Amino acid sequence: MPVVSTKEILDRAFTERYGVAAFNILDDLTIDAVLAAAEEERAPVIIQTSVKTVRAYGRDRLIAVLHAMARDVSIPVAMHLDHCPYRDVISECLAAGWNSVLFDAHELEVAENQRQTTEVVAEARRHGAHVEGEIEGIEGIEDDIGSDEASTLQKLEVAVEFIKTTGVDVFAPAIGNAHGQYKKAPKLDHQRVTDLVEATGVPMALHGGTGLSPDQFRDLISRGCAKVNISTAIKEAYMRSGLEHLKVAQEKNKWDPPTLFAHQREAVMKVAREHIALFGGSGRA
Ligand code: 13P
Repeated sequence: MPVVSTKEILDRAFTERYGVAAFNILDDLTIDAVLAAAEEERAPVIIQTSVKTVRAYGRDRLIAVLHAMARDVSIPVAMHLDHCPYRDVISECLAAGWNSVLFDAHELEVAENQRQTTEVVAEARRHGAHVEGEIEGIEGIEDDIGSDEASTLQKLEVAVEFIKTTGVDVFAPAIGNAHGQYKKAPKLDHQRVTDLVEATGVPMALHGGTGLSPDQFRDLISRGCAKVNISTAIKEAYMRSGLEHLKVAQEKNKWDPPTLFAHQREAVMKVAREHIALFGGSGRA
């Protein structure tokens, strides 16, 4: 199936109150594993890339691989650029064919963030693409972006005004969630999600998905978090399964790359399948 618009995937999920998993992929192996898992679950899926991955793998190669692999599956797939504070990278990815971008300008004053996000929305529309917005940092450094400090929280009215004025298609609120593994169980401000959804009618993106409980996912999805981001769990499955395989390879002095790749693919697929099922995405494609 060719790639489809992020908005198309998210709007249906928002209306029917299930979550679409947005997995941060790293390379062709992880794209393949996530697509295979979504195909097995018959679920729409968002393939998400950090700026670091875009730079490390190569923007044009990354989108070419995604498009080639998406042709082999029959579920809706969209390509999203995760946290990107750089306007030039945003422009390049939109021109290259990304379906949506998170313009992460939370470090700017809200008024300036709002002005620039409005420009990014106009630019995205020219490419038939969509935009996620953010005014408060999500705690935790991920792929070199972000901070371990909790960011300043904005008043509800400020967030509502930002969403309405900029015309963003999805919004990422800071609700006590954090990137990476949680050091202690997070207390999430679920009411903030309800208030934002009621005031704007716009779907929310739940960041920091790794380590949240099934009940937390279900509750936030039912309140309007239609996009649910998972990065750390994919990275850890990929690397830990590799390490596990390599330890045995070393012990036996038997080195066979294809079995390593198959082992890692299976581990990443398992994590993706579990999250898709948990978010209620199975059988929606
Ligand atoms: P985790 O790394 O905690 O899964 O968060 C992913 C995320 O929110 C990407 O933006």
